Amino acid sequence: MRTAIAAKRDGQALAERVWAEIVAGYVRGDIAEAQMAALLMSAVLRGLERTEVVGITRAMIESGDTLDFGALETVDKHSTGGVGDTTSLIVVPLLSACGLSVAKLAGRALGHTGGTIDKLEAVPGVRTALDARTFRAHVASHGLAIASNEANLAPADRALYALRDRTATVPSIGLIASSIVSKKIAGGATTIVYDVKCGNGAFMRTHDDARQLAEMLVDMTGAFGRKSVALVTEMDQPLGASIGTGLEAIEARDVLEGRTSPQRLIEACLALTAALVDAHTGLGDGRARAGRALRSGDGRAALGRMLDAQGARVGALEALRPDALQTPVLAIRAGHVANIDCVELGECARELVALGGPFAGIRIVAERGTRVGDRDAVATIVGQTNAAIETRVRAAFDIRDERPEELPLVYSTTR
Ligand code: URA
Ligand code: CA
Repeated sequence: MRTAIAAKRDGQALAERVWAEIVAGYVRGDIAEAQMAALLMSAVLRGLERTEVVGITRAMIESGDTLDFGALETVDKHSTGGVGDTTSLIVVPLLSACGLSVAKLAGRALGHTGGTIDKLEAVPGVRTALDARTFRAHVASHGLAIASNEANLAPADRALYALRDRTATVPSIGLIASSIVSKKIAGGATTIVYDVKCGNGAFMRTHDDARQLAEMLVDMTGAFGRKSVALVTEMDQPLGASIGTGLEAIEARDVLEGRTSPQRLIEACLALTAALVDAHTGLGDGRARAGRALRSGDGRAALGRMLDAQGARVGALEALRPDALQTPVLAIRAGHVANIDCVELGECARELVALGGPFAGIRIVAERGTRVGDRDAVATIVGQTNAAIETRVRAAFDIRDERPEELPLVYSTTR
């Protein structure tokens, strides 16, 4: 191990087989944390070659179980994590309404970003800890399911991620790609769409880094015999109007019912659905099918079907309401909303949920580019609040004289 660390420190690539032995050895407890941490830091500083990423990814897949759906071809979606990003709760039903079988593995909130599992669990009764047999059965009979990774899928990733988190070795494109792809391959999907967020609210701050990660994700997925497409999407502002677990579940329901139309959230959902449908079928009619699934109400029906199957109480989704206690947050000054600090709003929303429960959080009133007066609200705090959080939410809206340039929503697509 010491030789491998020294080689990586000096910028050499380790053989695929060496990485496989190291990852397996670490999971068995045969390699000390100090040595693994030193190797990971060398990888972050020196970079990883393609064969090394293949070796790490393969070792992580082989560290646990893999789901097998037999003759059923399933699809999955992954987002690198955003704010006000409730796309999974909309895209999964839309994909199902387009006729695809969706077996989505989802995670919990990480840092300032929301987690699909937490949002689902805001619906009373819903279970997400599905064992492999139940997960397969739901996908086969209902066409869709969202499960937390309770099964023993890529356990090496869990162990490595915990160490990376503590040792500041998360930001390596190769390590991130192997972490994401290993979980998706182990989850059994035939075709995967990756949403790589780029901006002040994302892991990837620059277009260059985001595009490199997108390319690596698609390359690695192909190396394991599956199809994929990756979209780099803008995350310099919250995607939808709601931030908070239950508020985002409500927003997903209302979008699928056509009762609210947060423009960028809907556009992102249609783009991701269309990209995955096209990557899976090769027919090129994904956009039309995604639009029909939304307008016809078939997407809403699919969401209801999934939640019923996963234990939602009768009428639970219909009954969800934001906390009635609502406090407007006024603009710091008059002007245009030039920047919104997504990290700060994501963290404030998480604190508000901890304070006031799942139906607390933040609603954006003045999105990026909006002109506001000094008596206008930029946001609404939903649920119990305090002066410190109000000050932070207020300061998260940077207001300038000039109107900011509009940002595209999809920066690039990698197939
Ligand atoms: N998300 C993951 O699943 N893994 C990483 O390494 C980073 C983000
Ligand atoms: Ca999501």
